[in-house]
Amino acid sequence: MKMRPHVGIIGAGPAGLLLSHLLASEGIDSVVLESRSRAEVEATIRAGVLEHGTVDLLRDMGLGERMQREGAVHHGIELRFDGEGHRIPLTELTNGRSIMIYPQHEVLKDLIAARLEQGGRILFNASDVRLADVASSQPGIHFVHEEQQVELQCDFIAGCDGFHGVSRAAIPAAVQTVSSRTYPFGWLGILMQAPPSAEELIYAYSERGFALVSTRSPELQRMYLQCDPQDEIANWSDEMILEELQARLATTDHWQLRVGPIIQKSILAMRSFVIEPMQYGRLFLAGDAAHIVPPTGAKGLNLAVADVRHLARALALFYSNQQTELLEVYTQTCLRRVWRAEHFSWWMTSMLHRFPDDDAFGQRMQRSQLDYTVRSPVAAASLAENYVGLPFDW
Ligand code: FAD
Ligand code: DHB
Repeated sequence: MKMRPHVGIIGAGPAGLLLSHLLASEGIDSVVLESRSRAEVEATIRAGVLEHGTVDLLRDMGLGERMQREGAVHHGIELRFDGEGHRIPLTELTNGRSIMIYPQHEVLKDLIAARLEQGGRILFNASDVRLADVASSQPGIHFVHEEQQVELQCDFIAGCDGFHGVSRAAIPAAVQTVSSRTYPFGWLGILMQAPPSAEELIYAYSERGFALVSTRSPELQRMYLQCDPQDEIANWSDEMILEELQARLATTDHWQLRVGPIIQKSILAMRSFVIEPMQYGRLFLAGDAAHIVPPTGAKGLNLAVADVRHLARALALFYSNQQTELLEVYTQTCLRRVWRAEHFSWWMTSMLHRFPDDDAFGQRMQRSQLDYTVRSPVAAASLAENYVGLPFDW
């Protein structure tokens, strides 16, 4: 079987799905290939924080109706250390900007439903996906779908297949530069059936390690604990998780964590990673396929959105005027934001986690940075500006 869309998109995560919508709004035809089933994609628990610009884009595209009904707008976050909470008033410090708590898999459900309703093509359960001739003007993607061998010929390939995808390897090693860092800790993430313990997210630094209190709905809460990245989730009983959360979040005024049954738990490793360039010939990488940030700054999903917004604009200019100038500078355009997010995520991570081999000096540096961030309006404003997200064309 043969298919011939303008753009072949590999991966139905936030990057691939939003790109297919942005292209459709410019009259550009695409096909999305996804190796997992629709049910698996819609059930994978990941990020929860949407930047101001991400929210505006989804709303402007007509994709934000459920998000605006069910999501929660937050105007601040809390930094907690030495048993005390300190509010960072995001909205006050950023000229009225805010963030939205709306889970990534709910965004994906909305994007998939809207795309299929509009007649868009998303092929789930695609296997053996291979890229061909990416340096030519007629690149191709070969894959198996419903037991048929399919050959997709297109003008451009968007590699939106995440960190473990196949697209990145199509950029020859000789032209790649990879910058990366692994961290000596991971996050244990849980979903708990309980009412919210606080109105805003809590990022807590403690002697015992980092803890984060986030939310999903009035009945369901999301929390994270710094842990050994090699640890097995089976080593953590629900009682241990609750005890550790309570110990790391304890305050001098006896704040109480509201608890309930833990319905999901897993451990994720943390890394920073960037590949340059993000393009080669007619292949353009977007999202986690090109870069990874540790989750502390809540930037991963939002960076994927910014990449595909640039890519869609560049492709729109190509199809309307045959101009390649935005395509040529795609990597350069994306990397300014990518490296800003890399720095912010590394900075938040370094300030808030306990490093296993850290000495007294390192810990005093962290305390001083936390103290400065909550006491100086200028330092707090810098955190807030990065957290709510810089403008797309920054
Ligand atoms: P992905 O969401 O990874 O989507 C890629 C898609 O491509 C997947 O559906 C995958 O199945 C598909 N695919 C892979 N290989 C192939 C192939 N060969 N052929 C076809 N399809 C393929 N960010 C935050 O901001 N906060 C968080 O709390 C947070 N938690 C995370 C937890 C985990 C376990 C992970 C992995 C990431 C987390 N992130 C978090 C990061 C955030 O979820 C990602 O940055 C975001 O999903 C990136 O979107 P993407 O579309 O680029 O990639
Ligand atoms: C969530 C995840 C993050 O990485 C973060 O910094 C804040 C919130 C969440 O899953 O809700």
